Amino acid sequence: MRRIGMAIVGIATALALAACGGTGAGGGAPTGGSTANNQAAGDTLVGVAMPTQTSERWIADGNAVKKGLTDAGYKVDLQYANDDIPTQTQQIDAMITAGAKLLIIAAIDGTALTSQLQNAASKGIKVIAYDRLIRDSENVDFYVSFDNYKVGVAQATALLYGMGITDRDGKATGSAPKGQNIEMFAGSLDDNNAHFFWNGAQDTLKPFIDDGTLVVKSKQTTIEQAATLRWLQETAQKRMEDLLTSTYGGKGTGLKGVLSPYDGISRGIITALQGVGMGPTIKEGLPIVTGQDAEIASVKLIADGVQSSTIFKDTRKLAAQAVTASQAFLSGKTPEPNNTKDYDNGKKIVPSYLLEVDTVYADTIQAMLIDSGYWTADEVKSGVAK
Ligand code: BGC
Repeated sequence: MRRIGMAIVGIATALALAACGGTGAGGGAPTGGSTANNQAAGDTLVGVAMPTQTSERWIADGNAVKKGLTDAGYKVDLQYANDDIPTQTQQIDAMITAGAKLLIIAAIDGTALTSQLQNAASKGIKVIAYDRLIRDSENVDFYVSFDNYKVGVAQATALLYGMGITDRDGKATGSAPKGQNIEMFAGSLDDNNAHFFWNGAQDTLKPFIDDGTLVVKSKQTTIEQAATLRWLQETAQKRMEDLLTSTYGGKGTGLKGVLSPYDGISRGIITALQGVGMGPTIKEGLPIVTGQDAEIASVKLIADGVQSSTIFKDTRKLAAQAVTASQAFLSGKTPEPNNTKDYDNGKKIVPSYLLEVDTVYADTIQAMLIDSGYWTADEVKSGVAK
């Protein structure tokens, strides 16, 4: 029964691929799949290595990738590594030993997997870097992600918009006063994405820093100074508390905005700001704080007028691209990239498939997150994923 079921799913998948007509990472994949193909898929193991379950997005990513691969008839070994690098390397070693034919990896430290990938390559195992580029290795075959530079642009634009300096498209309003204080946070330096987010944001903020509209009062303007190891909320909260003490008289006086690259970091920052009596909402003087990932706790804060915005990366679409690229590799084809210039991992330019992102404000939660089925209205109201 199970085999027949999988065969039916296989045909459905093949039809769906055919219907896609070559758009997406699987443009090079066969479109006329057969039951025989699918039975072969049924014996094929795919290893999926995710970084952590402390952030909702990776749970959603893992589940969606697993479901997509299982529906396509593959066996899946999905592992989370608690943000611990040795755990992740061991998990990948174990996947290779278990006979995985393909690996999908969202790395914790993008530079720490060179020997695992060498081993995989020697056994003919293809490697797809998932969301985060794996660096310093020839043996990364494909990269599926979002346009990470544009994420940074969108975050900075949301900050400028929230502060009344530009409209939502980044066009200057011309009416903003000079000398508005901001602080800036970055992600984990060992995550390649953190640098792309930072660069996109810095390029966008630069003209307004140069003309004196924005002032980084702490003078902590390098990514090293702004970084948050492992993207941890508590680490960000501590740095914000330190900045409030060192630069804002312990009360946040004069602080108007904080660039944050991820919702967990945003919530740490907001806790620190509210902790010295700011806000509690933007209307009541809480600085503008940006975000990323549309985590449910932050979506609620946005609905409540506390966090200003987040960047929505539809993990369902990313997972679908990873599955499509996997199907291409596992049937001896090459997935079709839509970017072959931006992601140099230090050894080669990795062919990439990049998805677009959206910015969510309080008034776009309904259209972007609820109508699209990403969160329900009840979840947004409670701030808890059901
Ligand atoms: C991802 C972000 C995420 C961050 C922290 C990055 O690599 O691209 O979506 O917010 O990791 O988990």
